[in-house]
Amino acid sequence: MVFKNIKIEKKEGIATIKINRPQVLNALNKDTITDLSKAVEELDADKNIKVVILTGEGDKAFIAGADIKQMADMTPLDAKEFSELGHNMLKKIENSRLPFIAAINGYALGGGCEVLMACDICIAAKSAKIGQPEINLGIHPGFGGTQRLPRLVGRMKAKELLFTGRNIDADEAFQIGLVNMVVEDDKLIETVQKLAGQIASKSTVQTSFIKSLVNKGADIDLNSANSLEISYFSSGFSTNDQKEGMKAFLEKRKPEFKGK
Ligand code: COA
Repeated sequence: MVFKNIKIEKKEGIATIKINRPQVLNALNKDTITDLSKAVEELDADKNIKVVILTGEGDKAFIAGADIKQMADMTPLDAKEFSELGHNMLKKIENSRLPFIAAINGYALGGGCEVLMACDICIAAKSAKIGQPEINLGIHPGFGGTQRLPRLVGRMKAKELLFTGRNIDADEAFQIGLVNMVVEDDKLIETVQKLAGQIASKSTVQTSFIKSLVNKGADIDLNSANSLEISYFSSGFSTNDQKEGMKAFLEKRKPEFKGK
């Protein structure tokens, strides 16, 4: 499918989605969120794809937030629908079988920070600025920021950032556990592609199991989560990837996983 507000490239099992509205720093309007939602569905169904990289067009922004121009005149009902649209798109990323790596190439503010937090791994360029500045607009985050931020960085830190709307730099984001790694700006894409390639070489059955276990497990009690792990672990032994992985180890060679 061809999209108006995003670009997708596919190469060697890795799909790169670029938000493509650089003239407004890749702000998320309704159409862009809808495009993203459809793209996630499409990639999820494409068995050749093993990993997704999500980034922004241009060198200034990943996503500078939800589109303020579009939100300015919304009624409460419009705002509810907009918030639901954003939540549903992020749910698709979280429920996707694919590992999503966010490559933060500049501002990741508001909705941008919320997209970052729905991804599985995040690498930020040194010059990136990350935050939830909604309070400065007289609102609070509406795409999960009040919920995912405290789960990632703890309640106190989250409240400080949400109350003040202060944007933090990449190093501080790393210190509080909001990004996995910070790299020089000109090394961002190369680093993310290398990581994506590494993950793409693993069993895609297992990457999807791990994603699902970590995400589901975080929202339920430990006993239930451990039971879920037992059930996924046992079904892993019905796959070719388990047979191949262990056979390759015993034969002292590299495994060739087929995702089956
Ligand atoms: N929604 C809509 N348009 C946005 C936007 C957003 N979230 N963020 C930036 N833009 C637009 C600007 O209006 C401007 O458009 P214009 O050229 O037609 O005036 C263009 O993108 C460039 O932004 P500008 O503000 O001129 O760039 P800057 O380098 O001076 O500042 C930011 C960059 C990110 C600090 C600033 O744009 C900003 O604060 N954006 C809003 C961030 C925010 O509050 N996000 C949460 C929204 S809920």
